[in-house]
Amino acid sequence: MASTCTFPLFLSVTLQLIIITLASTSSSEADILLSFRASVEDPSRSLSTWSSSNSSSSHCSWAGVACSLIPSTSRLSVTSIDLQSFNLSGEISPSICELQSLTELNLAGNLFKQPIPLHLSECSSLQVLNLSNNLIWGPIPEQVSGFRSLRVLDLSRNGVEGKIPESIGLLRTLQVLNLGGNLLSGTVPSSAFGNLTELTVLDLSLNPFLTSEIPSEIWSLKNLEKIFLQSCGFYGVIPDSIVGLQKLTTLDLSENNLTGKLPTLASLKNLASFDVSQNRLSGAFPDGVCAGNGLISLSLHTNFFNGSLLDAIGGCRSLERFQVQNNEFHGDFPSGLWSLPKIKIIRAENNQFSGEIPDLISTASQLEQVQIDNNSFTGKIPQGLGLVKSLYRFSASMNRLLGEIPPNFCDSPVMSILNLSHNALSGEIPELKKCRKLVSLSLADNSLSAGIPESLADLPVLTYLDLSANKLSGPIPQELQNLKLALFNVSFNQLSGRVPALLISGLPASFLEGNPGLCGPGLPNSCSDFGPRRHRDGGLTTLACALISIAFGIGLLIFAAGFLVYRKSSKQKAEKVWHSVFFYPLRITEQDLIAGMNEKSAVRTCGVFGRVYILSLPSGELVAVKILVNFRNQSPKTLKSDIKTLAKIRHKSIAKILGFCHSDDTIFMIYEYLPGGSLGDLIGGPDFELRWSVRLRIAIGVAQGLAYLHKDYVPHLIHRDIKSNNILLDSDCVPKLTDFALDRIVGEAAFQTTVASESASSCYNAPESGYSKRATEQMDVYSFGVVLLELVTGRKAEEEDSADSLDIVKWVRRKINITNGAFTILDSRVSGGSERVMLGALDIALRCTSVMPEKRPSMPEVVKALQSLCSGNSPQPLSLALSSSEGHQLPV
Ligand SMILES: *[C@@H]1O[C@H](CO)[C@@H](O)[C@H](O)[C@H]1NC(C)=O
Ligand SMILES: *[C@@H]1O[C@H](CO)[C@@H](O)[C@H](O)[C@H]1NC(C)=O
Ligand SMILES: *[C@@H]1O[C@H](CO)[C@@H](O)[C@H](O)[C@H]1NC(C)=O
Ligand SMILES: *[C@@H]1O[C@H](CO)[C@@H](O)[C@H](O)[C@H]1NC(C)=O
Ligand SMILES: *[C@@H]1O[C@H](CO)[C@@H](O)[C@H](O)[C@H]1NC(C)=O
Ligand SMILES: *[C@@H]1O[C@H](CO)[C@@H](O)[C@H](O)[C@H]1NC(C)=O
Ligand SMILES: *[C@@H]1O[C@H](CO)[C@@H](O)[C@H](O)[C@H]1NC(C)=O
Ligand SMILES: *[C@@H]1O[C@H](CO)[C@@H](O)[C@H](O)[C@H]1NC(C)=O
Ligand SMILES: *[C@@H]1O[C@H](CO)[C@@H](O)[C@H](O)[C@H]1NC(C)=O
Repeated sequence: MASTCTFPLFLSVTLQLIIITLASTSSSEADILLSFRASVEDPSRSLSTWSSSNSSSSHCSWAGVACSLIPSTSRLSVTSIDLQSFNLSGEISPSICELQSLTELNLAGNLFKQPIPLHLSECSSLQVLNLSNNLIWGPIPEQVSGFRSLRVLDLSRNGVEGKIPESIGLLRTLQVLNLGGNLLSGTVPSSAFGNLTELTVLDLSLNPFLTSEIPSEIWSLKNLEKIFLQSCGFYGVIPDSIVGLQKLTTLDLSENNLTGKLPTLASLKNLASFDVSQNRLSGAFPDGVCAGNGLISLSLHTNFFNGSLLDAIGGCRSLERFQVQNNEFHGDFPSGLWSLPKIKIIRAENNQFSGEIPDLISTASQLEQVQIDNNSFTGKIPQGLGLVKSLYRFSASMNRLLGEIPPNFCDSPVMSILNLSHNALSGEIPELKKCRKLVSLSLADNSLSAGIPESLADLPVLTYLDLSANKLSGPIPQELQNLKLALFNVSFNQLSGRVPALLISGLPASFLEGNPGLCGPGLPNSCSDFGPRRHRDGGLTTLACALISIAFGIGLLIFAAGFLVYRKSSKQKAEKVWHSVFFYPLRITEQDLIAGMNEKSAVRTCGVFGRVYILSLPSGELVAVKILVNFRNQSPKTLKSDIKTLAKIRHKSIAKILGFCHSDDTIFMIYEYLPGGSLGDLIGGPDFELRWSVRLRIAIGVAQGLAYLHKDYVPHLIHRDIKSNNILLDSDCVPKLTDFALDRIVGEAAFQTTVASESASSCYNAPESGYSKRATEQMDVYSFGVVLLELVTGRKAEEEDSADSLDIVKWVRRKINITNGAFTILDSRVSGGSERVMLGALDIALRCTSVMPEKRPSMPEVVKALQSLCSGNSPQPLSLALSSSEGHQLPV
């Protein structure tokens, strides 16, 4: 009896206990979450559900929070916090680690701006940490090894810099390591990866400053499925040991500096994507890349591969993208490719492939894009081509294609670019009716005959039509003048008759030349009814027409260049093509940049090269954008590598380059923003009252920056435009050099015609720069001396638009020869007691500004001399007896 009574009682007590423990743990977990919330800024109110005032909702239902029942404790506990893209900033509070069961923390896509939060290694259960796409900065410390239980570590797309520490190898449980899109540098420690045997995904991509061999241990990590090492500075060969990576599905090594031959790939049976493009690989491409039948994307472009591909890609039934352009392949093109069921892109231009395009191409029902220009393809254009309804680009110029163009060749409803120029095609141009999206048609330099089909005039978006250098005859159809053509080239045919009026007024005569039978105003042969007019003012009209035509033609050419972009962006206006490279997660597009640059954001004009603008990034950070215009001599590749060289500079006295965007003739350089403005502004300003100690510190900083550029940085650089306007100050008056080595960016020629010529008479320039075109370190030293004079005297080196314009070097030298002159030039606003040190600085400045370059000290010597002034004891005797009043030898 007793037992039947006590049992329910016991049960109810236990239940109550459970309820109490549940309630109490959840309230303390809620408190932990609330204290986490308290330390972050949440402008978008993404965490508004995180509130204890609503007692009807458990913290497990708060945004991003997930709980699970923990078997060992029978409690419901927080196991996952996923706050990605919540727009949070502030601090990641260590309190979060009090959540005992937290296994997954995802803070990706926020604005946390801090070093790597090592304190999260205290979270004892944490397995997944995702901090991707924040503003995390600073190095990866050795203590990263504290994250012992992590399976997934994602620090991608931040500003993490410095070397990858060896201790990362202690994270033995790691399966996914993503450090891509950062500023890591140096060599990758090769021993670090050997013990990461669980690794399935390794991503170090987009770290432009990593210059290293690929650590050989990577190739022995048998569980690796995905390797992303693209766009770094990896060099060396891809070793044979890669064959051990049997689980590999994705390998991206593109845009590095890899050399040598590829090893055989036949054992990589799971490969789906293989990209080694844009390296310096050579030799034949090995057999077996499709041994597993699963390859979807093969990209080998822009290397030095040679040999034949015929046998190498047998079995590639799943291939969608095949890109082997810009190599030295020869031999027959693997004809099976043309009829693969899933193939979308075939790019093989600029090789020496031969062979014919088979009629079976009609079965490639997904084919979108074919580019095989500049090869040795022969045979006819197959009828089957017209049956591929997804094809929007077919470009096969500069081959040996012959025979007639099949009437259906432009039947794909999405066809937009057709280029068959420079082949041996003959017969008539077929009527083109179905390809209503055709933008560009080039049939130049073939042997096409008969007339220009009138149906061309019905193609609504045709913009570029090149029929030049054929054997076309008959008139130019009147209807063509209704098209809005940017380019219409029918030169060197056998056309005859009157040129439609609008065409002749809208196009330069050179597009019509070489057709003796054509007539019209401006042509050598005007039609008979123009006869009388021609007698009166024919010469003038012709000239005027020609001039107008040429002007118009240039405009049209510019338009033609832009039209492809115009198509892409489907905007109404022709636009520049912009490319951007960011060395820092800026999260800004070229459009944002352009939109942000208006009068309001312009801060200083900088001569011919354009202005500097201050822009605000989405994160609230400010950046300075300098526009360089009017240059066009660097290839994008050189430009990129040149700016990369400059962006690698890490020195406290040199402004960081955060990235750049460029089009054909304009570069936006993006620098870190410095709130203190330029030293030039300060010196020129009405109340330049910097204390001497601050001025000396500025001088030392600038000198150290220059010494670094001259001697320590590889390659050695010359600034070439030192002046106080190019020395920016941060909020603590720490100087940063900017606008350094612009010659490397715009090229010597453009530099000479802009910067150099604009400042030819500037008193910052060393005297020898007038006659010596070669830039030297001594010229920088001279300019530095001028800046130092400005600091000592408190005067600007040159007064703009003033009649007795001050050349500070001459002024100082004049004064110094007067009794006690040296004292009178010291800036009187600097309070007393500093004179002796100021005279020491003056002496250094005078030596830097010696007329003879070889008399000037080197920058490291200047740094030393300035530092010894700072510490109060001057090691070398001053060359000027400045305290004495007699005239003395000037250092010249
Ligand atoms: C993020 O916050 C900024 C202000 O800090 C705001 O302008 C922006 O709209 C927010 N974005 C989202 C997606 O909430
Ligand atoms: C309290 O939480 C519940 C469940 O999450 C929700 O439906 C309700 O709207 C909340 N009430 C208040 C006042 O926020
Ligand atoms: C980290 O979060 C980002 C953003 O949601 C996501 O794209 C990425 O795949 C995550 N990383 C890992 C390793 O899951
Ligand atoms: C890898 O593990 C071995 C054996 O445990 C150890 O001797 C070695 O130091 C480890 N290497 C690294 C880089 O951690
Ligand atoms: C590639 O390597 C060569 C020497 O091996 C070096 O001269 C060159 O600068 C490297 N290129 C890049 C882009 O790193
Ligand atoms: C391929 O290039 C290598 C050097 O990269 C050269 O030694 C070899 O002769 C070339 N082979 C052919 C068939 O051209
Ligand atoms: C044609 O391809 C060869 C390599 O096969 C290359 O050297 C040449 O520059 C290309 N010609 C043009 C006009 O692109
Ligand atoms: C067509 O091909 C020729 C030769 O490769 C090239 O010069 C021309 O720019 C191409 N035309 C278009 C519109 O792409
Ligand atoms: C027009 O065609 C002729 C012959 O092919 C060529 O020489 C000329 O450069 C072309 N003009 C333009 C602007 O493409």
